[in-house]
Amino acid sequence: KRYPTNLLPQEHWDKRVCYVRGNCEKFLNKVHDIQVYDDDVWVVTLPKCGTTWMQELVWLVMNDYDFETAKNTNLEVRSPFMEFNYMITTDLEKCLEPIENLKHPRLIKSHLALPLLPSQIWDKKAKVIYVTRNPKDAYVSEYHFIRHMGLLPPQCTIDDYIKGRMYEKDCNEQFDNMYEFYKIRSEPWLFYTSFEQMKLNLRQVILDVCKFLGKSIDDVTMEKMLKHLSFAEMKKNPRTNHLWEIEEVRKKTNAGESEFNFCRKGETDSYKKELSPELVKELDNFVKEKVAQYGVTLNDLL
Ligand code: A3P
Repeated sequence: KRYPTNLLPQEHWDKRVCYVRGNCEKFLNKVHDIQVYDDDVWVVTLPKCGTTWMQELVWLVMNDYDFETAKNTNLEVRSPFMEFNYMITTDLEKCLEPIENLKHPRLIKSHLALPLLPSQIWDKKAKVIYVTRNPKDAYVSEYHFIRHMGLLPPQCTIDDYIKGRMYEKDCNEQFDNMYEFYKIRSEPWLFYTSFEQMKLNLRQVILDVCKFLGKSIDDVTMEKMLKHLSFAEMKKNPRTNHLWEIEEVRKKTNAGESEFNFCRKGETDSYKKELSPELVKELDNFVKEKVAQYGVTLNDLL
């Protein structure tokens, strides 16, 4: 209701799909009306854009750098994914319980697009942290992830998947989502950053998040944070590897054996190493054209 519909070019808005996977109108209506609290922090992203990395960072900043609890409690419990229960159970009654029962101040993860977030977000009291990522790397990361979850036909190769993402009917959705948040990036209740910025200078992102949330950090704690949030440490951290969520989905899809670590490569531009040179070129051109629709470049968005 309160989303300003003029953030996107009109022709995109007319064709807007906005979805979470599966049919979900009732769920989205429920989300629209939920209560948002002044001290809430929402980490909003598209899948595979560094959500988990940012959640762990923000949870620690919000909780006085309580590394003990972070090491002993799954991230899903400390910072639930709003759409998860609905995705696996479609139980409308119970689907939002994890966030309703969460201790305040709440840290909530969502992959919903800006117009689908609870309408009270627009009261501008809660804080939203948006992390974006080069869609080329996000697509590759997504392929490996959903393959492991058993959500792809076994014969689907990475090339098939990337081409599918490029030529699917609603392929503007990814770019609309990024651009909407980019357009409102100077709102005081929004902190806009990217996976690329986190890779480039994690220390600065931590400082920026602290400033955004009105928290401080001393030098010793900063060093602990940098170590705890490093790729090597997060790779071996069972609390941040979504083992429970992944298994819940794999049970449903009867996924077979597969080698996977949630912290897979953790690099920028890894699509160049993982795709054929022809596909890299095609994808580069595709993304360039898509972002040009908004009068920006990919570098602007990242
Ligand atoms: P790759 O699959 O490219 O390695 P999300 O949490 O949004 O699902 O994002 C997952 C991606 O973030 C994965 O990307 C994962 O490896 C990467 N990631 C998670 N923690 C990271 C860290 N500490 N440093 C760098 N990348 C990290």
